[in-house]
Amino acid sequence: MKKLSIALLPGDGIGMEVVPAARKVLEKSAAAAGVHLSFEEFDWGSDHYFRMGQMMPVDALERLRAHDSILLGAVGHPDIPDHITLNGMLLPIRRGFDLYVNERPAYLYAGVESPLRGYEPGAIDMVVVRENTEGEYTNVGGFVYHHLPEEVAIQTSVFTRHGCERIIRYAFDLARRRNLKRKVASITKSNAQGYGMVLWDRIFREVSAEYPDIETESLLVDAAAMNFVRRPASFDVVVGSNLFGDILSDLSAIVTGSIGLAPSANLDPRRNAPSLFEPVHGSAPDIAGKGVSNPLATILAAAMMMDHLGEPAISASIEGAVRAVLADGKVLTADLGGRATTAEVTAAVLANLA
Ligand code: NAD
Ligand code: IPM
Ligand code: MN
Repeated sequence: MKKLSIALLPGDGIGMEVVPAARKVLEKSAAAAGVHLSFEEFDWGSDHYFRMGQMMPVDALERLRAHDSILLGAVGHPDIPDHITLNGMLLPIRRGFDLYVNERPAYLYAGVESPLRGYEPGAIDMVVVRENTEGEYTNVGGFVYHHLPEEVAIQTSVFTRHGCERIIRYAFDLARRRNLKRKVASITKSNAQGYGMVLWDRIFREVSAEYPDIETESLLVDAAAMNFVRRPASFDVVVGSNLFGDILSDLSAIVTGSIGLAPSANLDPRRNAPSLFEPVHGSAPDIAGKGVSNPLATILAAAMMMDHLGEPAISASIEGAVRAVLADGKVLTADLGGRATTAEVTAAVLANLA
């Protein structure tokens, strides 16, 4: 029997609701396929910070490395500054494991209403490929005259040829694998950011020459934001820097119904380290603890995880169950216009697993 071990990091807020939901779906779907999943759950996050003064222990990455994959809920607490929680937990894993791809699909499922008029199910079908280890998130900088009246903050973006090339190449390969519109749109702001993003644009042109079968467009991020609303159906694979990919993936999530439906995969395509799967959304303190969060983003992230781990049939069965629940439309959380709880949606997915 094939065995896979999964590290669970529920983290904060609704992360503690949606990760247990996804675990149930993984357990049932894997058992039906004859795959043995073992789980190790880590109680890292803001509660750990309140107890121990750090979000996760110093040997966290070493302990995670022992697993095939990581499923994370969310990080962020209203009583701790976000740069402390996020630089204490999620970001060090992305950086430390060099998970340089952040793949964020957005698909308009049947039964889900887009806030944009006139789109049929499946008409919006895109993937934001976000550079995940450098760019605006490099965390290089510092304070001068810290907390004095004349204080100065420096925050540097770092764009490397190595970093741009590998994420752009990944986007082209993905457009070939998807074999849908066979298009890659590259997003920068090279009219104002005259170094890093100029390098990105040049590398995009160079790499695109190796993929004559893939159509390309290069957009400035402001126009791209407009076009995600004006012509979302025209996009296939969209590749952008860390920050632009972050922002545009909230936009692609909402034009396909809800951030409660948007999954994400932080990948090391070379497989030197375990990849990390999570919803696009955060800890949602406004609804945390009420049992009403939508678990489907995390359940779809679990499906992406099974695909990455060489179990496409399990992945397809999970996605199929989610599709069935959405199409049926009777058991939906409030973000999708329903009144169901997290537990009810999870039960509906479990009931629909083939
Ligand atoms: P958020 O994604 O947590 O919430 C934005 C809005 O969407 C809220 O109204 C929330 O209720 C709603 N929402 C999000 N997920 C939902 C779900 N599954 N079901 C139903 N509704 C859902 O973003 P935010 O409010 O900007 O951030 C809250 C905290 O989360 C902050 O501390 C932030 O830093 C953190 N954050 C963490 C991650 C992560 O861990 N990957 C991602 C984004 C934000
Ligand atoms: C995301 C989140 C994180 C990011 C934050 C919480 C640091 O918004 O995963 O989209 O910007 O990467
Ligand atoms: Mn985000």
